[in-house]
Amino acid sequence: MKIAVVGTGYVGLVTGTCFAEVGIEVTCIDIDKQKIDNLKQGVLPIYEPGLEEMVVRNMEKGRLHFSTSLAEGIQNADVAFIAVGTPPGEDGSADLKYVLAVARGIGEHMNSYGVIVTKSTVPVGTAAKVQNEIAQALAKRGADIDFDVASNPEFLKEGAAIDDFLKPDRIVVGVASERAEEVMRKLYKPFLLNGHPIIFMDIPSAEMTKYAANAMLATKISFMNDVANLCEIMGADVNMVRRGIGSDARIGTKFIYPGIGYGGSCFPKDVKALIKTAAENGYEMQVLKAVESVNEDQKSVLFEKVKRHFGGELKGKRMAVWGLSFKPKTDDMREAPSLVIIEKLLSVGCEVVAYDPVAVHEAKKDLGDRVTYASDPYAATEGADALLVVTEWPEFRSPNFETIGALMNTKVVFDGRNIYDAQEMERAGFAYHCIGVRTSHHEHAHKTV
Ligand code: UDX
Repeated sequence: MKIAVVGTGYVGLVTGTCFAEVGIEVTCIDIDKQKIDNLKQGVLPIYEPGLEEMVVRNMEKGRLHFSTSLAEGIQNADVAFIAVGTPPGEDGSADLKYVLAVARGIGEHMNSYGVIVTKSTVPVGTAAKVQNEIAQALAKRGADIDFDVASNPEFLKEGAAIDDFLKPDRIVVGVASERAEEVMRKLYKPFLLNGHPIIFMDIPSAEMTKYAANAMLATKISFMNDVANLCEIMGADVNMVRRGIGSDARIGTKFIYPGIGYGGSCFPKDVKALIKTAAENGYEMQVLKAVESVNEDQKSVLFEKVKRHFGGELKGKRMAVWGLSFKPKTDDMREAPSLVIIEKLLSVGCEVVAYDPVAVHEAKKDLGDRVTYASDPYAATEGADALLVVTEWPEFRSPNFETIGALMNTKVVFDGRNIYDAQEMERAGFAYHCIGVRTSHHEHAHKTV
């Protein structure tokens, strides 16, 4: 088989590379010449563990190609994925201009039957627009070429994208013809060896599945954040509550970790877009509106704790911040809670010294030199009045708190991800604040394993 993947962002690049990995001939296309030139040199526009080696290996094997020419890449392709960005427009709805421009381009240049697949997260109804755009472009050049459209949402997690792609929980494909179903089944066959299903459905349902999945996950997080905040007020411990409810298989142990709010390129955008789509069609997504507002508030929770601890006296305080990216194993700063927290610290006159293992160059785009960037986690804590743990990078899990305590000006930790044991921290002489977990001011604190 031969496929084209248009858009070499995060989704497109992982998709194209993983298909090449199983032996399919792939051309990845992007209009950004610099990006394509870099990729040809093995230089990636994003950080994703394992991806660079995989790109280089498949290029060397001659299965993975990069090009700026859609006209060239689309020739004889059995399948073309549209994986370009759908940035939120001013009103929060997904902007489809890039998706539709690619569809037009495909219609202008395709030379044989192919399945055109939307991979970008697009509102319900987009595949129909893509179909229309291609049909018009074909008609304009008087070409009589058959094609199908399909919708194939991705469920990749940043930082674990390759594994998610190669060993998916499920593959969802929306199709409107048997021919397209056959092509897509053949394409995905190498990824179904672990017995996980490929689920075919109609196109609007596939488009909706992506939003419903992300909205459900975002809901779990906001719900747990709400519960964690209430736990604090009521003297309960969210870690215990989490274990208590997670052991019910209907609830499950995953995605019920409270923290400082969800971020990233998907959840905030998709939740907004679904609320918007519903509203446009006369329906109100009441639960999702609450999910969004809880998340906005949650990004301020850590700062509020800092403020309370210091009795509002924050001017001139030196704050060490560990972690900038919206989650570990990525340099993605989109909608990162760290940005909200740091802006708040800066606005009250704090000095911020931040450390992140990979996201500094991305963070600088927003924060510039208003923040000092430390070269390692310990250096960040030197002379600090408090340490804020914002992203739970593995290297923060078991640091030497004796060293840190000696480096810091005052021994105070605000842990936005609940990665430390409250009692151990207190035994080590730290004032320890976290999210919804019992700390020393609760008399009857005890530990479960
Ligand atoms: C998400 C979906 O998981 C993926 O299926 C979809 O395709 C794209 O969006 P991603 O954005 O990479 O993936 O991140 P994910 O690991 O899902 O985390 C999202 C956010 O939720 C992060 O900010 C994370 O810190 C937060 N989170 C996650 C919590 O606060 N608590 C949890 O229990 C889990």
